Amino acid sequence: MIALAVETSCDDTCAAVTDDARILSNVISSQAAAHARYGGVVPEVASRHHLELVNPVVEAALSEGGVELRDVDTLAVTTHPGLIGALLVGVATAKGLAAPLRKPLVGVDHLHGHVAANFLEPDPLEPPFLCLIASGGHTLLAGVTSHDAFEVLGQTLDDAAGEALDKGARLLGLGYPGGPAIQREAEGGDPNAFEFPVAMTRDPGLDFSFSGLKTALLYATRELDEGELERRRTDIAASYQAAVVGQLVAKLERALATGDWEAVALGGGVAANSLLRERTAALCEKRGLRLKLVPGELCTDNAAMIASAARFLEPVPYPDYLDWTAAA
Ligand code: KG4
Ligand code: ZN
Repeated sequence: MIALAVETSCDDTCAAVTDDARILSNVISSQAAAHARYGGVVPEVASRHHLELVNPVVEAALSEGGVELRDVDTLAVTTHPGLIGALLVGVATAKGLAAPLRKPLVGVDHLHGHVAANFLEPDPLEPPFLCLIASGGHTLLAGVTSHDAFEVLGQTLDDAAGEALDKGARLLGLGYPGGPAIQREAEGGDPNAFEFPVAMTRDPGLDFSFSGLKTALLYATRELDEGELERRRTDIAASYQAAVVGQLVAKLERALATGDWEAVALGGGVAANSLLRERTAALCEKRGLRLKLVPGELCTDNAAMIASAARFLEPVPYPDYLDWTAAA
C-alpha cells in the first residue's frame, strides 16, 4: 500500500511516501531560519511559507520515493492539532492532490503521528507500550494499546517541554529552536551548578508543569550580570536541561505503574534530546524494559509518521473529504 502524506501543522513543511511500514522518502523543509529572528514560530509567517514550499516538497517526496502520483493508493494529512493557517495549507493540498484522481484521503491527529513513528521500519514496535510524547506544543504520556488509538495518562498543565526549552534558550540568548541550542550549550556543563525545581515530582499525578521552571530560570539570569551570564551559560543550560529531562523521566517512571508495560517509546521533537534518550535508556535498563528510540528525524515533525498513523485508520473515499477543514 503506497501512501503519500503531507504534514504542515507547525513550522516544518513535510511530505513523505511510504510503502506500508517502509519509508520510501521523507522530505522536510524546515522554516526555522525564517522564525529564528523572532525567537519562536510566527503563525502567519509559517502559513505563508507552507504555501510556497508545499508543492515543491510534495514533488520532491514523490521523485525521491520513485513514485508517480497515480501510483499512490491513499493520501494522508495532518488535520489537527496545530496552527490553523498552517494546517489548512496541508489539508487543502492533500484534498487537491487526492480529488482529481478520485483517491481516498485519511485525516490524522498529529499526536497519533508522533506515536506512530514507532510503527515504522526498521524494527517496528508493536503495542502495547508506554509512550512519552514531548514536543514544542505538547507533553503527554500515552498508553498505547492498539495501532489506531492511545490513552492520555498525563499531560502538561501549562507549557510543553519543548516550549520550556525554546523560551529558556531565548532567555539565555541561544537562538531558535531552543532544544537543540540548549543541548549544544549544555555539553560539558555542570547539571548541578544551578538548582532548578524538578516540578511536580512531589505531586502524586502524572501531569507535567514547566512554567515554574521557566520563571526560575528568569530569576537566575536576572541575578547575573552580562559577564557572569556569559561565563556561566554552559552550566545554566546544563542545569536547566537536566531539570526539564528530570521531570519527564520521573513521570515516565511513575507511569509504569499504570499497567503491565513491557516496552517504552519516545516521540516528539524533545525525544531527539541526547540526555533524555540516555536517562530513558538507563530507566529501561534498570526496570528490564524494551526501549524503542526512533532516529532524530522521526522525532521532530515529519510526514512519514503521518503516513504510518494513516495505515491503521479508515481511508475516506472521494468525495466525502471535500468539506474537511482543520482544527487548531
Ligand atoms: O515535534 P516537533 O518537531 O514539533 C511540534 O510538534 O511541536 O518538536 C519541536 C520541539 C521544539 O520545542 C524543539 O526545541 C524541540 O522539539 N527539540 C529538542 C531537540 N530537537 C528539537 N529539544 C531538545 N533537544 C533536542 N535535540
Ligand atoms: Zn510535533
